[in-house]
Amino acid sequence: LRILVLNGPNLGRLGSREPDVYGNQDLNALRALLEADAPGVTIDLRQTDSEPELMSWLFEAVDTSTPVILNPAAFTHYSYALRDAAAMVTKAEIPLIEVHISNPHAREEFRHTSVISAVASGVIAGFGFDSYRLALAQLTRQN
Ligand code: DQA
Repeated sequence: LRILVLNGPNLGRLGSREPDVYGNQDLNALRALLEADAPGVTIDLRQTDSEPELMSWLFEAVDTSTPVILNPAAFTHYSYALRDAAAMVTKAEIPLIEVHISNPHAREEFRHTSVISAVASGVIAGFGFDSYRLALAQLTRQN
Protein backbone atom coordinates (compact mmCIF):
# COMPACT_ATOMS: atom_id res chain seq x y z
CA LEU A 1 0.00 0.00 0.00
CA ARG A 2 1.15 3.49 -0.87
CA ILE A 3 -0.34 6.64 0.63
CA LEU A 4 0.12 10.15 -0.73
CA VAL A 5 0.68 12.69 2.05
CA LEU A 6 0.31 16.02 0.28
CA ASN A 7 1.16 19.35 1.83
CA GLY A 8 0.31 22.77 0.46
CA PRO A 9 1.88 26.21 0.63
CA ASN A 10 4.29 27.28 3.38
CA LEU A 11 4.36 23.83 4.95
CA GLY A 12 7.90 23.36 3.64
CA ARG A 13 8.85 25.87 6.32
CA LEU A 14 7.57 23.71 9.18
CA GLY A 15 10.04 23.63 12.03
CA SER A 16 10.79 27.35 11.83
CA ARG A 17 7.40 28.77 10.77
CA GLU A 18 5.28 29.99 13.70
CA PRO A 19 6.47 27.24 16.06
CA ASP A 20 3.92 28.40 18.65
CA VAL A 21 1.17 27.30 16.22
CA TYR A 22 2.81 24.52 14.21
CA GLY A 23 5.49 23.10 16.54
CA ASN A 24 9.20 22.81 15.84
CA GLN A 25 9.34 19.60 13.84
CA ASP A 26 9.78 19.61 10.09
CA LEU A 27 8.35 17.47 7.28
CA ASN A 28 11.22 14.97 7.51
CA ALA A 29 10.26 14.36 11.13
CA LEU A 30 6.63 13.93 10.03
CA ARG A 31 7.65 11.37 7.39
CA ALA A 32 9.66 9.43 10.01
CA LEU A 33 6.69 9.38 12.41
CA LEU A 34 4.32 8.09 9.71
CA GLU A 35 6.80 5.47 8.51
CA ALA A 36 7.23 4.21 12.09
CA ASP A 37 3.44 3.98 12.51
CA ALA A 38 2.87 1.95 9.36
CA PRO A 39 5.73 -0.37 8.47
CA GLY A 40 5.12 -1.85 5.04
CA VAL A 41 3.18 1.21 3.87
CA THR A 42 4.97 3.50 1.43
CA ILE A 43 4.59 7.04 2.74
CA ASP A 44 4.85 9.27 -0.34
CA LEU A 45 5.11 12.64 1.40
CA ARG A 46 5.34 15.76 -0.75
CA GLN A 47 5.06 19.53 -0.35
CA THR A 48 4.51 22.30 -2.83
CA ASP A 49 3.69 25.99 -2.79
CA SER A 50 2.12 25.60 -6.25
CA GLU A 51 -1.61 25.12 -6.74
CA PRO A 52 -1.29 23.42 -10.16
CA GLU A 53 1.37 21.05 -8.85
CA LEU A 54 -0.81 20.08 -5.90
CA MET A 55 -3.72 19.54 -8.32
CA SER A 56 -1.52 17.34 -10.54
CA TRP A 57 -0.78 15.12 -7.55
CA LEU A 58 -4.52 14.68 -6.96
CA PHE A 59 -4.93 13.70 -10.63
CA GLU A 60 -2.14 11.17 -10.04
CA ALA A 61 -4.06 9.81 -7.02
CA VAL A 62 -7.08 9.29 -9.28
CA ASP A 63 -5.05 7.65 -12.05
CA THR A 64 -3.24 5.31 -9.64
CA SER A 65 -6.07 4.77 -7.09
CA THR A 66 -3.86 5.98 -4.25
CA PRO A 67 -5.40 7.15 -0.93
CA VAL A 68 -4.58 10.72 0.08
CA ILE A 69 -3.88 12.59 3.29
CA LEU A 70 -4.10 16.27 2.29
CA ASN A 71 -3.10 19.36 4.24
CA PRO A 72 -4.20 22.03 1.76
CA ALA A 73 -2.79 24.79 4.04
CA ALA A 74 -4.06 28.24 3.01
CA PHE A 75 -5.63 26.78 -0.19
CA THR A 76 -8.15 25.20 2.21
CA HIS A 77 -9.90 28.49 2.57
CA TYR A 78 -10.32 29.63 -1.04
CA SER A 79 -9.14 27.25 -3.76
CA TYR A 80 -12.12 26.03 -5.76
CA ALA A 81 -9.66 24.56 -8.25
CA LEU A 82 -8.14 22.36 -5.55
CA ARG A 83 -11.63 21.49 -4.29
CA ASP A 84 -12.68 20.31 -7.75
CA ALA A 85 -9.52 18.19 -8.01
CA ALA A 86 -10.16 16.73 -4.53
CA ALA A 87 -13.73 15.92 -5.61
CA MET A 88 -12.37 13.84 -8.49
CA VAL A 89 -10.52 11.70 -5.94
CA THR A 90 -13.48 11.00 -3.66
CA LYS A 91 -15.93 10.61 -6.59
CA ALA A 92 -13.60 7.85 -7.74
CA GLU A 93 -14.18 6.32 -4.27
CA ILE A 94 -10.57 6.84 -3.28
CA PRO A 95 -10.33 8.09 0.32
CA LEU A 96 -9.04 11.62 0.86
CA ILE A 97 -8.64 12.85 4.42
CA GLU A 98 -8.21 16.60 5.00
CA VAL A 99 -5.85 17.32 7.88
CA HIS A 100 -4.66 20.41 9.71
CA ILE A 101 -1.95 20.76 12.31
CA SER A 102 -3.74 23.59 14.09
CA ASN A 103 -7.49 23.86 14.72
CA PRO A 104 -8.51 26.44 12.12
CA HIS A 105 -11.86 26.94 13.87
CA ALA A 106 -10.05 28.33 16.92
CA ARG A 107 -8.16 30.89 14.79
CA GLU A 108 -8.95 33.86 12.55
CA GLU A 109 -12.39 34.05 10.93
CA PHE A 110 -11.04 33.43 7.39
CA ARG A 111 -9.76 30.03 8.53
CA HIS A 112 -13.22 28.90 9.66
CA THR A 113 -14.23 28.13 6.07
CA SER A 114 -12.89 25.11 4.22
CA VAL A 115 -13.88 24.75 0.58
CA ILE A 116 -12.30 21.27 0.66
CA SER A 117 -14.16 19.65 3.57
CA ALA A 118 -17.42 19.02 1.69
CA VAL A 119 -15.62 16.81 -0.84
CA ALA A 120 -13.22 15.13 1.63
CA SER A 121 -13.93 11.68 3.09
CA GLY A 122 -13.33 13.22 6.52
CA VAL A 123 -11.43 15.93 8.35
CA ILE A 124 -8.97 15.79 11.27
CA ALA A 125 -7.65 19.05 12.74
CA GLY A 126 -6.03 20.42 15.83
CA PHE A 127 -3.75 17.60 16.95
CA GLY A 128 -0.40 18.72 15.56
CA PHE A 129 1.37 15.99 13.59
CA ASP A 130 -0.98 13.53 15.29
CA SER A 131 -3.66 14.77 12.87
CA TYR A 132 -1.71 13.01 10.10
CA ARG A 133 -1.11 9.93 12.28
CA LEU A 134 -4.83 9.62 13.01
CA ALA A 135 -5.58 9.91 9.29
CA LEU A 136 -3.00 7.20 8.54
CA ALA A 137 -4.53 4.97 11.24
CA GLN A 138 -7.92 5.38 9.58
CA LEU A 139 -6.56 4.58 6.10
CA THR A 140 -4.74 1.47 7.32
CA ARG A 141 -7.24 0.08 9.83
CA GLN A 142 -8.28 -3.52 9.30
CA ASN A 143 -11.69 -3.40 10.95
C1 DQA B 1 -3.06 24.71 8.28
C2 DQA B 1 -4.10 25.76 8.68
C3 DQA B 1 -4.28 26.78 7.58
O1 DQA B 1 -5.22 27.78 7.98
C4 DQA B 1 -2.97 27.49 7.30
O2 DQA B 1 -3.12 28.36 6.19
C5 DQA B 1 -1.83 26.56 7.08
C6 DQA B 1 -1.74 25.34 7.89
C7 DQA B 1 -2.77 23.73 9.43
O3 DQA B 1 -2.19 22.67 9.14
O4 DQA B 1 -3.07 24.02 10.59
O5 DQA B 1 -0.93 26.83 6.29
O6 DQA B 1 -3.58 23.96 7.18
